[in-house]
Amino acid sequence: MQSTNKEIVLDSQTIRDRVQELGREISKDYTDKELVVIGVLKGAFVFMADLVREITIPLATDFIQVSSYGDSSSSSGKITLVSSPNQMIENCHVLLVEDIIDTGLTMQWLAAHFNDQGAASVKICSLIDKAERREHKIKIDYSGFAISSGFLIGYGLDFDQQYRNLPAIYHLNI
Ligand code: IMP
Ligand code: MG
Repeated sequence: MQSTNKEIVLDSQTIRDRVQELGREISKDYTDKELVVIGVLKGAFVFMADLVREITIPLATDFIQVSSYGDSSSSSGKITLVSSPNQMIENCHVLLVEDIIDTGLTMQWLAAHFNDQGAASVKICSLIDKAERREHKIKIDYSGFAISSGFLIGYGLDFDQQYRNLPAIYHLNI
């Protein structure tokens, strides 16, 4: 069970320390603002659970799920909404929380989606910024770690729905 060829990239303590820093920064930046933290399912659920507990100002939480089709290595990929937040977004400050940003297609679509819904602002927080395959230019306002390449698993990140439960992040040798 889960015996696989993997190498550790970020251990639990390293992740915890960085999540704490992000939480502090976000708490400072959103003071006196109506903050809605929206996690991108499924990958963000572990990171989001830890992150919101490091944010010390009042906030609402919600989730969104999308799926992408097509060849993700080209810009022809299409995004479809699977489930939407229940929360009213209009005039709220939306902070999108993602596990990893790869081509940028998903985040570009999501940021446009929440801007269209009338959010007062839309910012992006991603645990990992994997820039090597970036095709869609996006601004990552809060970035946990920059990891240039490779396929990562653990701490919410999956390979075929497996390994999300690993407490650290590993490079999977496929
Ligand atoms: P993007 O639209 O290409 O930026 O894709 C982002 C999504 O692809 C992430 O939310 C992940 O679900 C998935 N993804 C990209 N790279 C990895 C990885 O290294 N491990 C696990 N999932 C990944
Ligand atoms: Mg994802």
